[in-house]
Amino acid sequence: MPHHRTLAPPERRGGGAPVIHAELQRHYDALYDQLLNGRRPREARPVLDVGTGDGLALAAITQGSPLHGVGVDTAEPGHWLGPVGWSVIQADAQRLPFDDQSFKSALMVDVFEWLRHPAATLGEIARVTDGPILIVQTDWEGLWFQADKAEVGRDLVRAFTRGAPDQLRSRIRGAAGEAGLAIGESSVAAISTDQLKPNTLAWDVLESIRRYLVLESAQIRARRFDEWRAELQRAADEGQFTMLLRRIVALLEAAA
Ligand SMILES: C[S@@+](CC[C@H](N)C(=O)[O-])C[C@H]1O[C@@H](n2cnc3c(N)ncnc32)[C@H](O)[C@@H]1O
Repeated sequence: MPHHRTLAPPERRGGGAPVIHAELQRHYDALYDQLLNGRRPREARPVLDVGTGDGLALAAITQGSPLHGVGVDTAEPGHWLGPVGWSVIQADAQRLPFDDQSFKSALMVDVFEWLRHPAATLGEIARVTDGPILIVQTDWEGLWFQADKAEVGRDLVRAFTRGAPDQLRSRIRGAAGEAGLAIGESSVAAISTDQLKPNTLAWDVLESIRRYLVLESAQIRARRFDEWRAELQRAADEGQFTMLLRRIVALLEAAA
């Protein structure tokens, strides 16, 4: 089982609805606009969400909008936290159980790094989509924590991001080209925050790093992690903390 790095907020203890991180709200709004690509919502649906997981990233992008569609994931559907009115199907994006041009838009958030055959998968998504395909992939190489002006915890962060592909932009471009798709628009969303409090993005990213390094893979002793975490908290309390990360956003279209 790969550990699936994601920026989606965790489900709150006690079952409360997950709250979209305020730091990402503008980013998600921009993704919604890119998915529409100048069309009205009713012209952009149905939408295919590839590697939908529990639907949280999809909810963050489409919540409160008239978009609807289908989420697919190789994993068995679990507790759905995505937008209401969408269906969820267990399927591999490399062989989708849909007719040609069944969808008007497709998106894929933090899945590209897990694809075994990216070009074949993009080609298959393009087969079932008559419209733009929005690819969003966090560039984990760009995850960076800073305290008092200096980068800290590089080795811990590297242990968390190990295996993430480098040169993401050119990989996406290459796979798209092989699949006969053109890149309409490609950009890097840079996200930076100085907040480290419960329910903030940095807090939740640090929680997932701890869960993976200390509990799931047991590579790092809890004490070592917690000392680093405390150093970051001290810096944050003094207004001397920054977390940076970046996401590659690419809008693919059938090549003319
Ligand atoms: C990091 S999670 C991202 C989930 C969600 N999109 C998000 O951003 O929170 C990656 C998801 O992609 C799914 N996945 C990986 N390869 C896939 C494939 N070939 N077809 C469909 N789903 C796939 C995994 O099962 C996992 O749920």
